[in-house]
Amino acid sequence: MTDPTHRSILLLSGPNLNLLGERQPAVYGTATLDAHVATAAERAQRAGVEVEHAQSNAEVGLVEAVHRARGVHDAIVVNAGAVTHYGWGLHDALAAFDGPVVELHLSNPSAREPWRHTSVVSPVADVVIQGAGGLGYRLAVDAALGLLGLDLP
Ligand code: DQA
Repeated sequence: MTDPTHRSILLLSGPNLNLLGERQPAVYGTATLDAHVATAAERAQRAGVEVEHAQSNAEVGLVEAVHRARGVHDAIVVNAGAVTHYGWGLHDALAAFDGPVVELHLSNPSAREPWRHTSVVSPVADVVIQGAGGLGYRLAVDAALGLLGLDLP
């Protein structure tokens, strides 16, 4: 059980998202990952909810972060990067997480190369937000808050 007096969301970032700001800015924008994390944290803070961020360039790091979230975090917002498209270990870890899961992408993978059209995260996500660029971080937090019954006005 999570602590009802201390609500928190795990924001999870996959491979290469640490390069945001420098990486393919035409696709992913110019904001850094730190800036997106700050956007998410500020939004959640309005509802009295903390955001913890973890980033890994490997699927195992994402799986272990989801395991650590069990009984600690109330919801997970995950941009798994390319792991989205093949990471069945991450899929299974998220399926074993007892709380809302929001899948997030800066770009719209469905409008890109065919290999990006499959998401193994989507079947275990309550909400999918993609293609909204940096705005997606705020939308994803709002979705998680709403699913927790903590909607912002
Ligand atoms: C991404 C989309 C993925 O296809 C890609 O591999 C990423 C970023 C996005 O945020 O648009 O690394 O998840």
